[in-house]
Amino acid sequence: MSNFVKLTSQSELPPEGEAREFPLGDKVICVANVNGTVSAMDNVCLHRGGPLGQGVIEGDKLVCPWHGWQYDPRTGEAAHNPAAKVAVYPLKVENGDVGPWQIVPGWIEESGSW
Ligand code: FES
Repeated sequence: MSNFVKLTSQSELPPEGEAREFPLGDKVICVANVNGTVSAMDNVCLHRGGPLGQGVIEGDKLVCPWHGWQYDPRTGEAAHNPAAKVAVYPLKVENGDVGPWQIVPGWIEESGSW
């Protein structure tokens, strides 16, 4: 069973220095492009649930649009407290489709969410 789930197309990925939100099941994933490196992480800020994919990139950090917490999109760690960490999802490209590949196979189908 393939563990590849399409999140979006390569052509829809955010350009360098931007982030975007993509729905996946009943979840939303934040995809950020930092200096040409595209990575995916949970979209919900650990502070008060701000939508990280609507944030801006400053340097190598994604800044939450609500109160400015900064995250490293490659690790999901908050800059001021590495113990505060959102889940990150390694991305894979298959035939122009982009998706996270290290998820539990069948999880979305069985539970409806991650
Ligand atoms: S909700 Fe993200 S910094 Fe407050």
